[in-house]
Parts: sequence; structure tokens; C-alpha cells
Amino acid sequence: MSSSPAAYLDALWRDYTAITPQAARIHALFAARGEEVVNDHVALRTFARPGIDLAALARPFLARGWQPRDPYRFDDKHLRARYFQHPEPALPKVFVSELCVDELSAEAAAIVDELVAQLPPGFGDRDDLPCAGRPWSVTHATYLRLLAESEYAAWVAAFGFRVNHFTVDVGRLRTLPDLASVNALLEAAGFELNPAGGVIKGSPAQLLEQSSTRAEAVEVEFADGRVAVPSCYYEFARRYPRPGGELFHGFVPASADKLFHSTDARR
Ligand code: NI
Repeated sequence: MSSSPAAYLDALWRDYTAITPQAARIHALFAARGEEVVNDHVALRTFARPGIDLAALARPFLARGWQPRDPYRFDDKHLRARYFQHPEPALPKVFVSELCVDELSAEAAAIVDELVAQLPPGFGDRDDLPCAGRPWSVTHATYLRLLAESEYAAWVAAFGFRVNHFTVDVGRLRTLPDLASVNALLEAAGFELNPAGGVIKGSPAQLLEQSSTRAEAVEVEFADGRVAVPSCYYEFARRYPRPGGELFHGFVPASADKLFHSTDARR
């Protein structure tokens, strides 16, 4: 018997806040205003390798009623993605991406394959794969070699399987009318926002506006020592209705492309 969608998301939230202290602080900031935070989506990252790819990460969500929606492609970041939506509208969408490892240099692809070769048998079949943690040993030197080519590859190498970000549904906030006022509240409280492509990505005309914090650095246990590297971030999304009146539930690829920079140690 698998856990309910809500219980499953709770487990993901606990795992995420354990390495994203700012998310709990921001959550408290909203709670202090009497807000009940509703999640728009959660995002997960992985390598496109058999057993741990996008399909493997999606499996526990499909088993709990989420349904596949639009696929996306980010050519310059060598990523494929797809989002999943639950018929229960209060549940967040799930945005899963995977790195097309074969499009990287032979050296970077070989590094990823050395990590994947360390996977314990059956690892990708775990029902808790989206918060199963890092199943391989990796050195900081290896992290830096990946970082030089793909920030995404370096992040997955360092953190493994856990939620990359939760996203506040700004349209469900009662005391903050728009994304700009959310951003102002966060900046006044000392949080740094991701400036790539402008603090607010997207527009009402695109039916989706998004902003995000910059990922905080947390100490990671590498095989050659503990080093602080950017962990996860917190995202904020405001959706607008389509001409028919129903809210737009998809994603804007140009905005998502910029949001990936929220974990970039090089910026
Ligand atoms: Ni997102």
C-alpha cells in the first residue's frame, strides 16, 4: 500500500527543507502574515540513464494519480522535461527534467557513467526515489569538472535524488496581490533573488510569471572533504487564466531556462 499523495509530498518537503533552510524561513514569513502556502509545483532533476531517468522519477507520482502533460526540451542545457498534473487541483504539479548525458563531452559523460555505475541494485525502483538522496560517492574535484561543463550535472552529482525546488502558488496568497509584492517582501527580509533574465521571468501575456531565490550554499560531504556548494532554491509562480477562463497550468520554456540558473555556483 503506497502512501497518499499528500503524505508523499510531506516527505519530499521534509527532505527538501533539511538542505534548504531558507525555504522553511520563507514559509514562516508567509505563515506570520496568516497565509496558507499552496504549492504550484515541485521540480526534480536526474540523469537520462536507464533506471533513474525521467520515467523512473515519474513512476511514484503516476502511481499516486498524477498524469503526464506537456514535454519540453532545453537544447543548450541538454535537458528534456515533462510535467505531471493531479486531478485533485490542490495538489502541485510535478516538473521532472533529465540531462541528456550523451550530448555532453565524452569526459563528462564518462564521469556521469562512473557515478551511475555505483547505484545499488534496484535503486531506481524505490518508491521514495524522488527523495532517496545521493547513492554514489563523488569528489569535489569531480564536481568541479562537471560544473565546468554543466551546472545541472554538477548539482545532481552533489545532491542525487531530492526535490530541487518547491514553488509557492502566488495566486493563492491573500495578503500579497502579485509577484512583485512577494519579491519585495522577500528582498526586505534579506533573501537574494535570481536575477537571470530579470527577477520576474515571463509575463501576464505568457500566462505565467515566476521568480526564485538563489540557492543557498550548504556543506556537502564529498569523498575528498566537506565543501559548501549551492543546494536548492524556492520558487514563486503566478498563473493567469487562458481566454476560456481556466488557469494556464503549463510552463514557459524561456522562463524555465533562466530558472535553472538559480543553483548556478558560477554566477
Ligand atoms: Ni520551477
